[in-house]
Amino acid sequence: MRPKSRTPKDMMPKRTKIATLLADGKTGFDTTVMGWIRTFRNNQFIALNDGSTNQTLQVVVDFENTDPALLKQLTTGAGIACTGQIVASMGKGQTLEMKATSIQVYGECDPEVYPLQPKKHSLEFLREIAHLRFRTNTFGSVFRIRHHVAWAIHEFFHRRGFVYLHSPIITGSDAEGAGEMFRVSTLDPTKPGLNEQGEVNWKEDFFGKQTHLTVSGQLEAELGALALSEVYTFGPTFRAENSNTTRHLAEFWMIEPEVAFADLDDNMDLAEGMLKHIVKHVLDQCGDDLDFLEQRLLEEEKNKPQNERSPLALREKLQFCLDNDFARVTYTEAFDILRNSTPNKKKKFQFVLDEWGADLQSEHERYLVEKHFERPVILYNYPAKIKAFYMRLNDDKNTVAAMDILFPGIGEIVGGSQREERYDVLREKMAAMDIPEEEMQWYLDTRKFGTVPHAGYGLGFERLILFVTGMTNIRDVIPFPRYPGYAAF
Ligand code: 4AD
Ligand code: MG
Repeated sequence: MRPKSRTPKDMMPKRTKIATLLADGKTGFDTTVMGWIRTFRNNQFIALNDGSTNQTLQVVVDFENTDPALLKQLTTGAGIACTGQIVASMGKGQTLEMKATSIQVYGECDPEVYPLQPKKHSLEFLREIAHLRFRTNTFGSVFRIRHHVAWAIHEFFHRRGFVYLHSPIITGSDAEGAGEMFRVSTLDPTKPGLNEQGEVNWKEDFFGKQTHLTVSGQLEAELGALALSEVYTFGPTFRAENSNTTRHLAEFWMIEPEVAFADLDDNMDLAEGMLKHIVKHVLDQCGDDLDFLEQRLLEEEKNKPQNERSPLALREKLQFCLDNDFARVTYTEAFDILRNSTPNKKKKFQFVLDEWGADLQSEHERYLVEKHFERPVILYNYPAKIKAFYMRLNDDKNTVAAMDILFPGIGEIVGGSQREERYDVLREKMAAMDIPEEEMQWYLDTRKFGTVPHAGYGLGFERLILFVTGMTNIRDVIPFPRYPGYAAF
């Protein structure tokens, strides 16, 4: 039985979302819309936005028959409900409008102090008022697209029969990122209990041991894959590295598929297929928001010198990514290209490449993608000594079956590998890299009991959002960014 709740008098009227009204395009009926005023012109025209689309609905106020006190409350930012008839619009710029018969103000907004004025604000300023920036066109579009991308990812894996596995956020293993993890502790930092050696006694801590926020769900995803055969994680990950760049966050979201009975080629195919599925979904489903962001980017780039502007507009860039195979190149091939490149010979790179085995920097990755191949690039078979212990050793004994996917304007967007499934080889690699075996028995067990070839990768969610929105700073594609020295909200 439905609860008998409120009396009709205090019931919230049913509203229609502005996106629905505009998509349906119907006229000649009465309804209610609710939202926030973007602008109020000539005491007559409200531009109303409710976040369902970046478009506004024009609400026409019969100002001659409206209480002047109410008209005064209709200011930028106020939260209101409007009831009236939807009619075809005579004015330019919109097809429909509402002729209001009644307006209710839920929350006034003092224009003298409201930080969001109806004008262009810098992204830096909006970051400082991240609690209000959702109300701008730019951030409305970014976060609606972010939602769509998350949805498309789940859809992609679900359709293929992957199991969504929730890896732990608090971890007792620090094999992957020792030195760059956030500690999780309930000990009093001013007077932790000490052991006989005078060191902090972690046995007294909440979990009876040292724990951290996870840097990756991969190792746990491997355990899942070696039973469920195809799994993926999608959750927050944390890195306490001191990277103050437009590509790094201390808290970011990662998608980590892990697949049993798969090798590096399968891994590349899966990643490329996933990225294309997402890009197609955004092109198909996020038309208005893409249009807006494409225009925003063009405006922004007008202020840049010609050589720093992107050669393709946003939609063209996405379409190009969809229509073309990613280049697949070994580290060794890429290294030769880079070593013989003009910027390397002229010492224009900050890190000049000389000896095989050097780690590639972002400037090198971007040269390969933007100047040499002019398309997304999958680099694979990296030198073993610059990659993690769990990556499968190739027969040459110098390289591992690792892959990174590099995107224009961003650099690395995906990192992954075929995993070392051979018990003895894995133990040798762990020993060589000083990974204590006692702490990794659970991981080694999967290699001892019915090990099989398997592979996986990690996709940086915010880096992908940068790509599909054309935004240029990772702090602008996550609702509340965390980076060194900053954790507001
Ligand atoms: O290359 P990474 O460190 O790989 C791993 O963590 C593996 N365990 C993944 C796996 O094989 N399952 O990180 C994967 C991706 C990077 O390619 C990048 O896109 C993103 O995560 N990433 C970051 N994004 C934002 N801020 C940071 N600080 C990031 N660090 C990595
Ligand atoms: Mg990486």
